[in-house]
Amino acid sequence: KAGSTVSITVVGASGDLARKKIFPALFALFYEDCLPEHFTIFGYARSKMSDEELRNMISETLTCRIDKRENCSDKMDQFLQRCFYHSGQYNSEENFSELDKKLKEKEVGRLPNRLFYLSIPPNIFVDVVRCASHCASSANGWTRVIVEKPFGRDLESSGELTRCLKQHLSEDQIFRIDHYLGKELVENLSVLRFSNLVFEPLWSRNYIRNVQLIFSENFGTEGRGGYFDNYGIIRDIMQNHLLQILALFAMETPVSLDAEDIRNEKVKVLRSMRPLQIDDLIVGQYKGHSAGGKFYPGYTEDPTVPNDSLTPTFAAAALFINNARWDGVPFLMKAGKALHTKGAEIRVQFRHVPGNLYKRNFGTDLDKATNELVLRVQPDEAIYLRINNKVPGLGMRLDRSDLNLLYKTRYPKEIPDAYERLLLDAIEGERRLFIRSDELDAAWALFTPLLKELEERKIAPELYPYGSRGPVGAHYLAAKYNVRWGDLGGENS
Ligand code: BG6
Repeated sequence: KAGSTVSITVVGASGDLARKKIFPALFALFYEDCLPEHFTIFGYARSKMSDEELRNMISETLTCRIDKRENCSDKMDQFLQRCFYHSGQYNSEENFSELDKKLKEKEVGRLPNRLFYLSIPPNIFVDVVRCASHCASSANGWTRVIVEKPFGRDLESSGELTRCLKQHLSEDQIFRIDHYLGKELVENLSVLRFSNLVFEPLWSRNYIRNVQLIFSENFGTEGRGGYFDNYGIIRDIMQNHLLQILALFAMETPVSLDAEDIRNEKVKVLRSMRPLQIDDLIVGQYKGHSAGGKFYPGYTEDPTVPNDSLTPTFAAAALFINNARWDGVPFLMKAGKALHTKGAEIRVQFRHVPGNLYKRNFGTDLDKATNELVLRVQPDEAIYLRINNKVPGLGMRLDRSDLNLLYKTRYPKEIPDAYERLLLDAIEGERRLFIRSDELDAAWALFTPLLKELEERKIAPELYPYGSRGPVGAHYLAAKYNVRWGDLGGENS
């Protein structure tokens, strides 16, 4: 708005997330002219640093889009001139009051709005929120706080965190990030479904046989073992990123595109989920493996991980939604680190064509002849639909082909990073892509009993070699529901 200004304070400015994601995303928004005309960025952390030192640090990670090299270094300089640093303790009201004074100097004469990005470990969230809200919130504009997982490690600790945050902030000031919601293909899921007549009528147990949500990384927890060991892959990826995608995928048509309407539908899905059964879960952990003359150390060989750790680095689960639309349809999730490939996909396998006239004309088994819709979230964003097609020629031979929308061909412009979209939404007060506290509770309510059982019974993960396809248990789990996992990156890549 005219006459207003936004002050963005990145708390934990020297951390990895801030340097690699947040400052670059802010710069990209600046370059695209998406930031308000008047804004100031402050880095806040404990170490002593001058404004100039912060700028040098940030400048190392700023990049220009491939298609926008022009004027890039001028723009970088202009951006860096708007960045400042304040050194302070995370629990010191005095230090936050000093920040407040500096912010006021920049905001003078304008209606001040303030955004705090907490890029810090969760055990200091509440201290920072207390100090920021008491001593550095805007007097007459808005004050918003972005937080990112982990939000606790189970239903109770997450609830406790929410209660503590709400002593200082109202729900509509808290922006809980799940950065997967900022990914282009995840946002497109609703567009695909609700703006195309051909998909929505098929979107139910009548036509869909199973849905697969797959996350795979081809590197281990190197350097993050300390954090990861306390959480494991189920808390790190499934309870949030994959479950959020599931909720968006399965929700009923929202009343409108307003944040509350969408989140109301998502939370209904989460609350309709059948309690997770331990028999529907497979856990794995990667072990050391030599390949191409190089040794890739196992998870427990990381010095920051206890030698006897049972923390899963891989998990596969079958989930069900107890409602009329999805009754009996398995939603299969698979997430793992140190696997053979990197990628994330949503795969929808459709049922057989009843009384398929052409069953004789398939070289392969009929099971492979079902349609499949794949949304490749990353890398190489794509949407493709597997169909059966006649091989041209005099005979009648069928094969499977893809109707293929490959983003890099269709939309050569670089796709914005998830953090760009989410930061912009937070500045604009758009809450659609952020997690509401009842969604968070429902997500934890689903996974907490399972996690407790896994930990209390000390269920040992199945070991799989670094760089492999993960534990064979995942295949048995899928087979139990008559499903074959799709091949990530598949024939289409
Ligand atoms: C984070 C997890 O939320 O997501 C990490 O904590 C994981 O373990 C990361 O590596 C993956 O994000 P992206 O955007 O690189 O797929």
